[in-house]
Amino acid sequence: MKATARQIEKLRDEIRRHDELYYVEAAPEISDREYDELMERLQKLEVEHPELITPDSPTQRVGGRPAEGFPEVVHTRQMLSLDNSYNIDELRAFDERCRRLAEGRALEYVAELKIDGLSLSLQYENGLLLRGVTRGDGRIGEDVTQNARTIRSVPLRLKSKAKGIDTGLEVRGEVFIPRDVFERTNAEREEQGEPRFANPRNAAAGAIRQLDSRLVARRKLDMFAYDLLVNGRKPFPTHWESLDWLDKAGFRVNPHRKLAKTIDEVIDFANEKEALRDDLGYEIDGLVVKVNSTALQDEFGATSKAPRWAIAYKYPARQASTKVLDIFVSVGRTGAITPVALLEPVFLAGTTVARATLHNEDEIKRLGVKIGDTVMIEKSGEIIPKVLSVVTSKRTGKEREFEPPENCPVCGGLISRPEGEVVARCVAADCTAQLLGKLIHFASRRAMRIEGLGVVLAEQLIGEKMVKDVGDLYSLTLEQVASLPRMAKKSATNLLTQIEASKTRDLSSLIYALGIRHVGERTAGILAHELGSLERLTHATVEELDAIPEIGLTVAESVRDWFDDEGNRALCDRLRAAGVKTEAERRGSAEADERFAGKQFVLTGTLASFRRDEAQALIEARGGRVNSSVSKKTDYVVAGEAAGSKLDKAQSLGVTILDEATFKGMLE
Ligand code: IVH
Repeated sequence: MKATARQIEKLRDEIRRHDELYYVEAAPEISDREYDELMERLQKLEVEHPELITPDSPTQRVGGRPAEGFPEVVHTRQMLSLDNSYNIDELRAFDERCRRLAEGRALEYVAELKIDGLSLSLQYENGLLLRGVTRGDGRIGEDVTQNARTIRSVPLRLKSKAKGIDTGLEVRGEVFIPRDVFERTNAEREEQGEPRFANPRNAAAGAIRQLDSRLVARRKLDMFAYDLLVNGRKPFPTHWESLDWLDKAGFRVNPHRKLAKTIDEVIDFANEKEALRDDLGYEIDGLVVKVNSTALQDEFGATSKAPRWAIAYKYPARQASTKVLDIFVSVGRTGAITPVALLEPVFLAGTTVARATLHNEDEIKRLGVKIGDTVMIEKSGEIIPKVLSVVTSKRTGKEREFEPPENCPVCGGLISRPEGEVVARCVAADCTAQLLGKLIHFASRRAMRIEGLGVVLAEQLIGEKMVKDVGDLYSLTLEQVASLPRMAKKSATNLLTQIEASKTRDLSSLIYALGIRHVGERTAGILAHELGSLERLTHATVEELDAIPEIGLTVAESVRDWFDDEGNRALCDRLRAAGVKTEAERRGSAEADERFAGKQFVLTGTLASFRRDEAQALIEARGGRVNSSVSKKTDYVVAGEAAGSKLDKAQSLGVTILDEATFKGMLE
């Protein structure tokens, strides 16, 4: 038992170290997959020994407490907004005001990036995360603790290096969604027929107020900490020291910051960072300039809305006008047809833009855009800029309507757009554009991870007719691959080694790699876990699939449709024959009793897989007791959907909370 506890603590420390390397230092030492494996090992041990679960365990980040809404919390100190400045003159005017107020005393500024997200306040007691609260109206925010816990750069426990502040500690920062996650989220939403988020800030704001924190965890929110308070006051003589402390305590503090002696240094910093905007991986909309001395901050005070010691310096919106030379369509792996505007090249915030996405036909109608139109385009978080609006005053009458093609521009196959769907698709089975997309998806890092199989190589394999579906990858020979133009023997051998290695990927990666509509990484994981083999998945009925918690009818039908296709079933057979692993790893056999015997359970909320009396019977059959109210003696609270006051009570008493997945794991 002691050994297990040590093992668990060791795993937790290791995971925490990797969280920090990844999220705080941006220097990961292990792959996502290896990280997931560590997490799975920890989860497995915790399922076997739930008595060892602690609230600061990394597994507790992915809880699930869908409640009716979020309780309101009054901020200990108002969360102010900032005054804005839009040009250098306004920034200089701010400097002059500050100098006047400082009456000749030395003045330093801290310049930071202004992250485009939403602010969050985090409270810690004795080094443990107690509460996360949104800004709300500045005075009253919403308690989103459970969601804040899913943010991996939010320490659940402060690092000992920064110990010393035990009570009344509050950290404020900006929560944001990284640009690549934003793009992925929007692509997924489009695929599922949901509206796209206009910008990463909306996506982040939507996520933090999501009621189901399991969905929040998927959005991979991140946070930069920028303020520190102890009992409502700033604990250090300077803001710069607060940032250092936050850094040491394990928060992610933005590395692009400057301690400036003059406003000119701030202006240089602003110009330097504006050029970086595209390379940051997250959106910024300017700088925040703050007086460094906290004594001067207190002296300068605030208006009802914003402090007098800080100002935002907003970068100009990244918009430009240009002409639409043509509109063409691109074809994705699911056959999805995406219209793209070909533009007169225009220089916009550091890069030359020659195309912008129009997303789908409905968007073209909404914008009313025609070929030849002058349009406003904007970079707003996504790598490909988008068309914002048409400048109708520039119309000459020579503009042409875009005619959606009836046939796929790549394979000539029929394009169809089913009733009620936004996306039109090429429905040809042998479309090479789709095949290219499928190959790239199959080989991608989150799927079968075949390194070295990129677009150029995939195009060559398709062009030479060596690969007609993803299954053909496994019958490629060294001779074939080495015969491709510009392919050295060594690279060919490497590719084959990679393909061979991909045979041992886990079942969930394989299911994801198949590219079934509506089956993203997470759904693939659930299917792999629930069904255990590709064989079982092949034969699962819609009813069986729909009965799996978290799998809805749309997914169930989509999976069934995919496996009903003869070609797809033949592909699965070939993958199996090639030696691709199609079974899930066996889970260790559970020694249930010890974990239940003599333990006090309380059930709250609705469980998706059991009725209350069933869950009770299962616990009792293993020697546990089920009580109706939570007390200090309670060992575990099993929290289902819409759990209410019992869950709150458990949290305040520090009782271990089991979400449904963990509870199910214990029963298995
Ligand atoms: S300081 C009183 N620092 O910008 C000081 N804010 O427009 C207020 N923001 O509500 C915050 N990055 O949500 C600060 N480095 C940064 C920031 C930052 C983004 C946000 C924050 C604030 C808003 C004001």
